[in-house]
Amino acid sequence: MDTQPSGTIAVFGGTGKQGGAVIDALLSRGAQVRALVRNPGSDRAQALAARGVELARVEIGDAASLSAALEGVDAFFFMTTPESTSAADIAAETPQGVALADAAVAAAVPHVVYSSVGGAERDSGVPHFETKRRVEEHLEKSGLRVTVVRPVAFMDNFAGMGPSVENGEVVLRWPLPDGVPLQLIAVRDIGQISAAFLLETAKAAGGTIEIAGDELTGSQIAAAFGAHAGLPARYEALPLQVLGDDEDAQAMFRWFAETPAYQADFEAAKTIEPSVWDLPTWIRSSGWTVPAANR
Ligand SMILES: NC(=O)c1ccc[n+]([C@@H]2O[C@H](COP(=O)([O-])OP(=O)(O)OC[C@H]3O[C@@H](n4cnc5c(N)ncnc54)[C@H](OP(=O)(O)O)[C@@H]3O)[C@@H](O)[C@H]2O)c1
Repeated sequence: MDTQPSGTIAVFGGTGKQGGAVIDALLSRGAQVRALVRNPGSDRAQALAARGVELARVEIGDAASLSAALEGVDAFFFMTTPESTSAADIAAETPQGVALADAAVAAAVPHVVYSSVGGAERDSGVPHFETKRRVEEHLEKSGLRVTVVRPVAFMDNFAGMGPSVENGEVVLRWPLPDGVPLQLIAVRDIGQISAAFLLETAKAAGGTIEIAGDELTGSQIAAAFGAHAGLPARYEALPLQVLGDDEDAQAMFRWFAETPAYQADFEAAKTIEPSVWDLPTWIRSSGWTVPAANR
């Protein structure tokens, strides 16, 4: 039988996608949640407060604010993120994670769940993967009990980088050769799986786990959107040059094309979250529709 949540779970990034999904999953399981936020007055923070989430104001550069916010919690979820695609902001991801890990040590947090990225440990050379690996290494040396969740590409990226509809046809254009399978995860499932670890209900080993819910080529992704829209679909592979001077994104898409890139443990993800979403489920659930002008 699953154990009931006993105390408070702290979440960093709760006003964003991953942390927000973790909070959704925790609240749905009846847990008490404390969100570490930099701006408690923001609409997103206030929306969390309205759902019963305790808000703790933190500054990444203020270690005391971080450790005070973690006082007495049973477990702590955090992710890290660059503020922009500049090299300096990408590099700043590591000290952000180190500060959060150090605060967990200072507050003697019993269990930390860190959301990193699939392949972080495999020398991808992708700058924003390497920064996350440095955070993982810091956690490994911290003495904390740590679970590292490594999500693959988010299905939710299709909300912004999804297909267009042109002349009654769904068209997806990505800088990835067709025929290369890309592993995908719904952010919702990062939340579900992380919550299971945070609440100690995951029927899986923990430690480190790369998670995905689907694996599809460009044409298959386009076809999934086409099937949902009831329209024919086509995939067009773009050259890496469309990414301009974004060397980080170029390195990532180059890595995606050098299979095997992501190497998720699909079975373990399904064991922890039996209803883990495939792409058609994400498309249905995300409310993706053909833009009105193209209907
Ligand atoms: N997209 C993908 O396919 C993919 C796949 C694997 C991994 N990832 C990784 O996922 C990460 C992004 O996660 P996400 O999508 O959940 O990000 P997000 O939606 O942009 O949310 C970022 C969260 O972090 C908070 N935050 C950032 N800096 C902060 C600071 N200095 N102090 C306090 N709070 C701070 C933000 O708070 P505010 O609301 O105050 O801004 C927000 O809650 C990136 O590192 C990316 O590499 C992405």
